[in-house]
Amino acid sequence: MPQIFPRGANFVPLKIILVLAFLGMAAPAAIWYYWRPEYTKIGYQPAQPIPFSHKVHAGQLGLDCRYCHSFVETAAHSNIPAAQVCMNCHSQVQKDNPKLAPLREAWATGKPVEWVQIHKTPDHAYFNHSVHINRGVSCVSCHGRVDQMDVVAQDQSLSMDWCLTCHRAPENALRPLDKVTDLGWHATPKGKESIEQAQENLGKELQKQRGVNPPVSNCAGCHR
Ligand code: HEC
Ligand code: HEC
Ligand code: HEC
Ligand code: HEC
Ligand code: HEC
Repeated sequence: MPQIFPRGANFVPLKIILVLAFLGMAAPAAIWYYWRPEYTKIGYQPAQPIPFSHKVHAGQLGLDCRYCHSFVETAAHSNIPAAQVCMNCHSQVQKDNPKLAPLREAWATGKPVEWVQIHKTPDHAYFNHSVHINRGVSCVSCHGRVDQMDVVAQDQSLSMDWCLTCHRAPENALRPLDKVTDLGWHATPKGKESIEQAQENLGKELQKQRGVNPPVSNCAGCHR
């Protein structure tokens, strides 16, 4: 086999250049790898076993989020609805549609539809839906305009830094409790205020009223 670096010749610099060229490739490769959607998670949009559309059900039909995610106000975890909730309508509506076959099967057998989970915080971080909903933080702050999505995609990073950005300035997110699932709602500007200023003023008032003080420097608030 011919030798690439013949004995005696001083090919050390070339070897160094080759190594550096390799490292030069490594940096973009690392950036590419770590910025994939699976890593940053923003835009993560797995295919689901049934082509269920929030745009149709929450947007056009106007169903409230809590019709299906009924534990979101009372529990740490929000729930995905059981087949029975869908069958309230689909035992009548489109009852022979082949796209709904997995739903009818789940209903008949009692084995839940295998929805793919999208949002997930790691086990070492504690998150609780009801605390946020009951203080007037809307789904839209953390999940985006789900009511306009045919297929749900992750809208925010859910990183620690992201949590803290809101915890440091919750006035930008607090709204009246009856508007929490109204994703298109925004504060009404008075006079020449911008929407952002109107939100900040309203938010500060609500923060005082509700005594809102989310954990920031208290690590144990989120790492229990
Ligand atoms: C008719 C029932 C129904 C209604 C109404 C509904 N959802 Fe859903 N939601 C589902 C189902 C089923 C899934 C699982 C399949 C999917 O991801 O599309 C889901 C998934 C989600 C997810 C992703 C969960 C995960 O795996 O991380 C979010 C976020 C969500 N819904 C938010 C909302 C919001 C916000 C509203 C109100 C604007 C809403 N949903 C209204 C049935 C519903
Ligand atoms: C309040 C009644 C209601 C509930 C509850 C409901 N749906 Fe629907 N769904 C409808 C109606 C009405 C349509 C037809 C919308 C249209 O064609 O514009 C529809 C359409 C669909 C379609 C589209 C079918 C196609 O051919 O495009 C799917 C899939 C579906 N629903 C799944 C579900 C699932 C899964 C659930 C439970 C998580 C659910 N639905 C809960 C009323 C409902
Ligand atoms: C302050 C941010 C925040 C708000 C507000 C919020 N969510 Fe979530 N949601 C999350 C996080 C974080 C997760 C991942 C939770 C986990 O891994 O335990 C999640 C997960 C979910 C899931 C998947 C099931 C679960 O609990 O893991 C559903 C469904 C959901 N949210 C629906 C909603 C609905 C509906 C609303 C509004 C009524 C809402 N969320 C408001 C941050 C939020
Ligand atoms: C859009 C704003 C917003 C975002 C984003 C947000 N939070 Fe919060 N969080 C709040 C508010 C408001 C409260 C209520 C504080 C209070 O009642 O004093 C709160 C309270 C909490 C609490 C205290 C619960 C208790 O029982 O005292 C924890 C823990 C928490 N959040 C965890 C998280 C985590 C983890 C994330 C990120 C995955 C997150 N939050 C993202 C606004 C937010
Ligand atoms: C508002 C909630 C919140 C508070 C307060 C908080 N953290 Fe976190 N922390 C998180 C979340 C959520 C994650 C997971 C982030 C992810 O998955 O990207 C995390 C992740 C971490 C990690 C692991 C990083 C990794 O790569 O997974 C460390 C270490 C950490 N936090 C330390 C701290 C320390 C130290 C403090 C106090 C100064 C603190 N945290 C306060 C929410 C919080």
